[in-house]
Amino acid sequence: MGKLKVVVLISGRGSNLKAIINKCSKKNVLAKVIGIISNNSNASGLKLTGDFKKIIIDNKLSKKRFETELQNNLEKLKPDLICLAGFMKILSPFITKKWKNKIINVHPSLLPSFKGLNTHERALKAGVKKSGCTIHFVDESLDGGPIIAQVETSINKKMSSKELSEKILKMEHKIYPEVVSLFAKKRICVKEDKVIIKDEKKLNFFIKNI
Ligand code: GRF
Repeated sequence: MGKLKVVVLISGRGSNLKAIINKCSKKNVLAKVIGIISNNSNASGLKLTGDFKKIIIDNKLSKKRFETELQNNLEKLKPDLICLAGFMKILSPFITKKWKNKIINVHPSLLPSFKGLNTHERALKAGVKKSGCTIHFVDESLDGGPIIAQVETSINKKMSSKELSEKILKMEHKIYPEVVSLFAKKRICVKEDKVIIKDEKKLNFFIKNI
């Protein structure tokens, strides 16, 4: 069986990208990162090395031209899965419709709560008792799209947003690569806008032990 071809879109640090690359290096994971695309030539994630293409698309281009270039590159790479990992651009239906159910994202909150930016600050301000991270399919809505997996953590009253973000980032680094691996095992599909995971109990067990 061929490996699942993964393209990762980043804008910055790339710690989730690194976690995905590490997971793909494991013998039992039938996925490989074939390309990294960034809208930021200074993204530190671009420093990661491996057998993949690195593509930078000029962030100053108009949305239409940016996405045309993105689409041209994706057509060449022909990924089975596109992972957004700290990619700070909202994709329009031009991309999301063409790659429907093939783009996933990690968001540092329990969606649908706290969509958008500054999630941890807003979660703390709201006084929620729990937060976490979500892996979801990407559609044209902001941080919308069918939810694949969520990991939660309790919030300690004295926590700073930095502490909360560090705690949740560690969870992201486990769950995101795990979801990529589930795609490689063909255990994830979407029916009527709901995600169905084959053998979901195993995933729940994995999540409980994060
Ligand atoms: C992560 O917290 C992710 O949830 C959010 O952006 C951050 C990206 O971090 N979408 P990194 O670039 O993967 O280190």
